[in-house]
Amino acid sequence: MQAINGDYTGKDILATSQFTTHDIDILFAEANRIRTKIERGEVLTSLQGQIIANLFYEPSTRTASSFVAAAQRLGGGIIPISDVHYSSVSKGENLPDTVRTLEQYADVIILRHSEQGQAGVAAAAAKKPIINAGDGAGEHPTQALLDLYTILRECGRVHDLTVTMVGDLKYGRTVHSLVRLLAMYGVKINYVAPDSLRMPPQLVYELASRGLQQHETTDLESVLADTDVLYVTRVQKERFKSEKEYLAVKGSYILTPEIMTRASRSMIVMHPLPRVDEIDPGVDSDPRAVYFWQVENGLYLRAALLSLVLGKAGARA
Ligand code: CP
Repeated sequence: MQAINGDYTGKDILATSQFTTHDIDILFAEANRIRTKIERGEVLTSLQGQIIANLFYEPSTRTASSFVAAAQRLGGGIIPISDVHYSSVSKGENLPDTVRTLEQYADVIILRHSEQGQAGVAAAAAKKPIINAGDGAGEHPTQALLDLYTILRECGRVHDLTVTMVGDLKYGRTVHSLVRLLAMYGVKINYVAPDSLRMPPQLVYELASRGLQQHETTDLESVLADTDVLYVTRVQKERFKSEKEYLAVKGSYILTPEIMTRASRSMIVMHPLPRVDEIDPGVDSDPRAVYFWQVENGLYLRAALLSLVLGKAGARA
């Protein structure tokens, strides 16, 4: 896996370990540049002549749509395979053959897969860049980058914040990626999860060795008042071996307007979405709820990433 090392051009985006804070500064500067132009109503053409293939083996609303919207906002074309059942995958075509085929038509391939590590398999087979749009319980680097971008915009900084992650920390790939990025910024992390859904111990160990301050608890209220960013996650039903196992932990943590009365006035509530029942809709009107701003930020962040990977970016940090 190649480090970005200040130059995104032609590189696969597979995991957050590829990034330094300087790489992230470059990406966010490009996202801000694109945001400003779109907000001014400018018609952008930087990806004219470029084609993006969306190859999704798992359902998606935000990731798939935001890459389509990003490509189209920048004048690019899109091959939308948003359900592989209607592609030759249903006839038994394997992933390497599928990406080798798509790269004959497209300049970059966005891949979501249900199995951890398959983005790497695709990258090994393809000559064109692969962007990991979520691989099983592994990583979701573009979600983590847009989450970090949201924290920076909403809190004005990342350093010294206390971030509390709550819910399914075992299978939640967004938290696996985000915590690795946050570890570069001197934050303090609380993990709140039922015992069976704790953050993978090897990841906690890896981050401790990098000096990240981490605290695990099952009691959200014990850390709520000192939390700057509350990152809520869905229990990932699709990763459980049985319905019984899922039902045993479903609804373990539900954020309500009443619980929000005990949180800091400046705390923000994030969620990668989709939500099921872990945030009561009554929280949506609270100005601290920023989960739909995350969705918007995903458009600019992914537009910036496409521009940089395709060598079409106009800003440098
Ligand atoms: N956050 C996220 O990955 O959402 P989708 O599954 O809708 O893409």
